[in-house]
Amino acid sequence: MSAAPRPDARRPVTLTTLAGMRTLGEPIVMVTAYDHPSAQVAEAAGVDVVLVGDSAAMTVLGYDSTVPVTLEELLMLAKAVRRGLTTPLLVGDLPFGSYEASDEQAIRTAQRFVKEAGCDAVKLEGGGVSARRAEAIVGAGVPVMGHVGLTPQTATALGGYRAQGRTAETARRVLDDALALQAAGCFSIVFEAIPAAVTDIAMGYMDVPIIGIGAGPNTDGQVLVYHDLLGIYDGHQPKFAKRFAAVRDEMVRGVRAYADEVRGRTFPGPEHVYGIAPEEIERLEAQLPPAPHPRLRAA
Ligand code: KIV
Repeated sequence: MSAAPRPDARRPVTLTTLAGMRTLGEPIVMVTAYDHPSAQVAEAAGVDVVLVGDSAAMTVLGYDSTVPVTLEELLMLAKAVRRGLTTPLLVGDLPFGSYEASDEQAIRTAQRFVKEAGCDAVKLEGGGVSARRAEAIVGAGVPVMGHVGLTPQTATALGGYRAQGRTAETARRVLDDALALQAAGCFSIVFEAIPAAVTDIAMGYMDVPIIGIGAGPNTDGQVLVYHDLLGIYDGHQPKFAKRFAAVRDEMVRGVRAYADEVRGRTFPGPEHVYGIAPEEIERLEAQLPPAPHPRLRAA
């Protein structure tokens, strides 16, 4: 049986809502969305946070990593998502190359997500320099979500798409990054692809809602990529990406059935056809010369 939606599910989710959920131990549900229909699905399903993730690069734009996606591309997707949402908190992902160079660049990019796309907050990846950029963005009035562990924008430097924090030293680095982001004023942090036991230790040091993806069950919430959880995308499926539906199979089945009916001339049927009074047809034909290529007439 599925859990009942939160009683206040129709009230817009704010940073205060999320902090309150953490305090009450109420799990936070976050999902990615990239267009108007996926936003409407997230809204109807009663999720708490929607992320216009740079995973769009791979799930909807066909790039082979998140690195090439541009700010303009993500802004366009975020605007479409905004038009489909009223309740969940909307977070825009700052794409690679749009925030690292300077505080000014980071603030300008974050403000575009808020001003042009109507996002409530932005997300950025990594600690170190990113924590400084997060502090600058927060200082400019835009809420920031951090992201540590496996940070796909810099996956090459991390040795590829693999779990992070599997030694004491690297686990310490993940925790230090999270602490730096928390100190920078991030309202929430994503933990991606780290051992559950490392998450359990790190949670003891965190004061803001932690959203896990491949980080075990003991975070304040979970996030999954829309296309992974619905089975829309047939690319690489990470270990942590549980499939809750097989939508792609159903879509292929539907398009194939359509193709079969077009080829079998059983679609469109009479119920899909517009009518016209016979006398209007007669009047039309009276105006025309004999057709050089007479065709069958619709019934
Ligand atoms: O881009 C994305 O979808 C993300 C989530 C995996 C957190 O960053």
